[in-house]
This record gives sequence, C-alpha cells and structure tokens, in this order.
Amino acid sequence: MDKAESKPAAKTGAGLEGVVAAESAIGDVDGVNGVLIYQGLNIHDLAEHSTFEETVYLLWHGRLPKRDELDALKQELSANLRLPEEVIELMRRFPAKAEPMDALRTAVSALGFYDPGGRDLSREGALRTAARLTAQLPVVVAAFGRLRDGQEPVESRADFNIATNFLYMLKGEEPEEREARIFDQCLILHADHELNASTFTSRVIAGTLADMYGAVTGAIAALSGPLHGGANTNVMKMLLEIGEPARADEWLAEALASKKKIMGFGHRVYKTEDPRSVWLRRFSRELAEAKGETRWIEILERLRELMFAEKKLYPNVDYYSGSAYYLMGIPLDLFTPIFAVSRISGWTGHVLEQYANNRLIRPRAEYIGPRDVKYVPIDER
Ligand code: SDX
Repeated sequence: MDKAESKPAAKTGAGLEGVVAAESAIGDVDGVNGVLIYQGLNIHDLAEHSTFEETVYLLWHGRLPKRDELDALKQELSANLRLPEEVIELMRRFPAKAEPMDALRTAVSALGFYDPGGRDLSREGALRTAARLTAQLPVVVAAFGRLRDGQEPVESRADFNIATNFLYMLKGEEPEEREARIFDQCLILHADHELNASTFTSRVIAGTLADMYGAVTGAIAALSGPLHGGANTNVMKMLLEIGEPARADEWLAEALASKKKIMGFGHRVYKTEDPRSVWLRRFSRELAEAKGETRWIEILERLRELMFAEKKLYPNVDYYSGSAYYLMGIPLDLFTPIFAVSRISGWTGHVLEQYANNRLIRPRAEYIGPRDVKYVPIDER
C-alpha cells in the first residue's frame, strides 16, 4: 500500500464472492468437483456410515470419537435436554403465528440468561456451551411446534438420539426406525458448509469475543432468509403451488419469464451438483414410494431437467429436503429451524475455532458517497 493511501486498493466482487476470509480446518467445499468434506472425511462416507452425534464430535474435535468419547458426548447431550422453565414460559407468550425461525432466535437468545457458564470462552467452557446449545435447539423447535397449536411440549427421552428425539418430541409418538435414520442422515448432511452466510455471521460475532449465545442468535437470523436456509420451506410452497407434475413446464416457463428466482437452485460455490442433494433426492424418492405419494418428487425431477436445460443450474441442499420432511409429516415452516438443529454443530465448531485463535473481524468498505458536504441548518434545507 502506498504511504499516502488510507486503505489497500484490493476490491472484491459483490457479496464477497471468491474472497477467502478465514482459515479453517473444519470443512471444505470443492465447488468445481462437487466434493464436501468435514475434517477430511467425505460427506458421502459420513452420510452412509456415521451418526449426527459422531459428526458433531468430529466437527468440534477434528477427528472421529473413540467409543468412550462418543458415549461421553451422548451423555452430556442427554444431560442438557431440559429447557429452563422460564424459556418454556417465554415461548408460551410468543404469538402462535410467529415465524418459527423468529421464535427459535428469541428463545436461543433467552437461553443465554439461564446459563451461568455462558460467558466462559475457554475451550472447555465453550465446548460445554456448544453441547448445551446442540442438545437444546431441537427441544426448542419441537416445543414451539406444539405450543403454538395449543399442545403441551413432550418430554424428551434420554435414551433417544437427537434425530429420533426431535421427531418424538414434535409428534408425541415414536418415529418409525427408517424415517428416524433418514432424518439423522439429513442432520449429518446439513451440519457444516464452510463460510456460508450464517456461519460467517457466527464467526464475526464470536470475533468480538461476544458469547456463543450471541453468535448463534445472529447465525439463526442469517439462516432464516430465503436466499439461505429459508429456501427449503419455499421449495415446498412452490411444489404445492404447482400441484401436479403436468403443470411443471408451464409454471416454470412463467416463473422464468417473470425473472423469478427458483428456490432450491443455484449456489455461490457449487458449479456442479451439490453432493448433499444426491442423498436428499434419494430420501425424497424413497419416502415418496413408501407413502405412495410420488407427485412431489416427479415435479422436482421435471423442474431439475428444465432448469438445467434452460439455465445450466443445479439443485442445492434446500431443493429436496423439504419434500422429504413434508412426507414425514413435518409442518412446512419448521424446515428451516430443522436446518438450524443440524447447523448448530457447524456454527459452534466455527465459534470454537474462532475463539481458539481470535482476531477481530473488521474489513473495510469502499466509500462511494460524496465528500466535503457542508452542514446546512435545518431551516435552510
Ligand atoms: C444454502 O453458501 C452456502 O454454503 C449455503 C448453503 C449451506 O449449506 O450453508 O449451501 C445453504 O443457502 C443453499 C442456497 C439456498 N437458496 C436458494 O435456493 C435460493 C435460490 N438461489 C439463488 O437465489 C442463488 O443461486 C443463491 C443465493 C443460492 C446464490 O446467489 P449468487 O451466488 O449471488 O448468484 P446470483 O444470484 O448472482 O446468480 C447468478 C446467476 C444470475 O443470472 P445472471 O444475472 O448472471 O444472468 O444465476 C441466476 C441469476 O439470475 N440464478 C438463478 C438462480 N440462482 C442463480 N436464476 C433463477 N433461479 C435461481 N435459483
């Protein structure tokens, strides 16, 4: 930088596209070849063989757990399932029509009041908070899902894993084993994705040495938008609007002619198929066939063909997940909170990494406004 210049000349494209903003050992996205890894392990290997709890350990500790380490994590998660009574009471006062992502954001922020160790940012303290949040997010989402319908929350079961427990607490009945495993695999697939908008948000907040509740509250807000996690609900709304496979061509032609963004397509990093969508497509089809309701997957597959032919765009992680959750009987507006139930593992992993080697994140803006503007008294304007 020239001495006379007040800031570096480097400029970035809109939306920080292509900018490398942090070093991280947690996960990597190869957008050209469609490869996603968590701590070196391929997502396909994890989706096939791992569990969400094991993946959580991997993201926080950099390697797969030994049996006793996994048992200890499971125990810690089970010990943290109970929400403070004050937070349940607070949720009872939320408007029944509140967006569940807003309810989750507010409840998570409030959870911080009742965690006496929440401001301990040491590795040990932050790991403890991470376990608490990972255990409690699904409880909050399931409880709000019931309270707004005038039903009482269902007590969690310490012998269930996170996936089974969530479905159990939401519906009040034990889920079918295959569905619970598919849900567990969905949680693995959504756990981390490098510096996506919500994870970046969590790192920026953690970089000020704010606590993990604050970092996660901000991340939930970022995830809620329709360009990010909010897309999964919107994909299902689109399918319901289209209604029948025979209407897909006409609907898409009209949508593209009116310059609509088609939810679930495109990605900032992937220039090929999102590897997660391969699994989600499989789950969506399997559930469709098991339930005898193939119309959503048929519409999805027709739109996929057309979008590739017209725009060379591929489906992203949000494209198939909604139809799978819908077939599991989950309300549409809980799809994005479910994304958060999984991504809490990646957010907290990144916050742990940020705290471990912190420097305030504070970039510059390229000023494009006027200079030397004189102040004019209010009566003379
Ligand atoms: C997630 O970053 C992550 O890793 C996120 C995520 C994670 O795991 O955390 O993978 C999860 O957020 C998935 C994305 C969910 N969002 C959607 O499905 C919403 C629909 N998609 C888009 O709006 C868009 O593709 C984004 C937001 C995902 C990416 O936006 P970019 O990188 O800013 O791309 P862009 O909007 O500038 O689009 C580039 C071109 C444009 O055409 P041109 O003006 O150059 O001719 O592609 C077109 C866009 O119009 N385009 C689309 C489109 N996506 C891109 N056209 C129609 N429908 C779309 N969905």
